Amino acid sequence: KIYPVILSGGAGTRLWPLSRAVLPKQLLPLVTDNSMLQETALRLAGWPGLMPPLVVCGNEHRFMVAEQMREVGIVPLAIVLEPAGRNTAPAVAAAANFLLALDPQAIMLVLPADHVVTDPAAFRAVVALASVAVAEGALATFGIVPTGPETGFGYILGGAAMATFEGCFEVARFVEKPDRATAEGFLAAGGYCWNSGMFMFRAERYLSELAILRPAIHGAAEAAVRLGYRDLDFCRLDEASFAGCPSESIDYAVMEHTARAVVVPADIGWSDVGSWAALWEVLPRDGAGNCQRGDVYLDGVRDSLVRAESRIVAMVGVRDLVVVETRDAVLVAHKSQVQRVKQIVDHLKAKE
Ligand code: GDD
Ligand code: MG
Repeated sequence: KIYPVILSGGAGTRLWPLSRAVLPKQLLPLVTDNSMLQETALRLAGWPGLMPPLVVCGNEHRFMVAEQMREVGIVPLAIVLEPAGRNTAPAVAAAANFLLALDPQAIMLVLPADHVVTDPAAFRAVVALASVAVAEGALATFGIVPTGPETGFGYILGGAAMATFEGCFEVARFVEKPDRATAEGFLAAGGYCWNSGMFMFRAERYLSELAILRPAIHGAAEAAVRLGYRDLDFCRLDEASFAGCPSESIDYAVMEHTARAVVVPADIGWSDVGSWAALWEVLPRDGAGNCQRGDVYLDGVRDSLVRAESRIVAMVGVRDLVVVETRDAVLVAHKSQVQRVKQIVDHLKAKE
């Protein structure tokens, strides 16, 4: 059986000022009227053989996550609560331990809560292809055709096509978040794809790789589930065990090192909506190329993203801007410079 595991932690700081620690990107209705988390869960509805999702999130977001699932009529298998974020390798390990106790054969489909997939049928097809290799012990990744030397992604060099598994390729190399020059080299060399951040493997296989590669994370996550307890829909991880867990992403901890990785090319209309410019790319735009939301007045404005949350925003004679107004903060940025929004958040944190 396949168990979707939706990772709903992290802050999404590049979408400041809308995305905040209390209300992060995945819980916001950024692309549709549903939140990104809701869209992620709805995308899976009606798949044959798929179990209800297991959501992993920070303890502070438990009520919001539970309420958002209720709103769209999805009953999660459980909601695993992290007393503090320890990045994705521990989050996935906690989920794996939880699932193993239910089903020793459990297959996990690990999904970030904050991505867009515009072709759900194609998504379902690539998951079906991966599931065959996964049943035999592979750790599957989904590869996206790169459109530029982005440094915020993992890069996968595809190897030989696997004779026994249709649509699956060996992973010759996995490099998480290379620097700019390295990423440019990968694109020039060809054969590399972006790691989508979605993974599929047997729970037992992930844990056995982790036990070898990162025994401290393996041990801490095991104890956090064993000493944790069930509280209605919530699975509360043991605070002391999880606090002692090293913080590391699944990409650095496992995927860069495992010999069992495979990649399935995934042409699924994927975007991680990692910036305001990426959001502008995926949103519907009017004839002048603008996306607008809220009380907005535009005159002679082109190719801009405008969001008004609490006041009127009026713009005249400008182009390629991102303007995001919220009750306590306003962002005005050139669309080509929005990666620097992250630095605003760092600066504000340092001032606190
Ligand atoms: N529950 C939980 N706990 N979820 C977390 C935590 C955590 O501590 N940290 C991150 N997440 C969630 C995020 O909400 C997101 O949905 C997902 O896990 C991935 O984390 P990110 O922090 O967004 O990772 P990234 O974007 O830098 O990199 C990953 O995704 C890229 C594609 O978007 C990597 O897998 C890259 O290799 C990949 O290219
Ligand atoms: Mg991300």
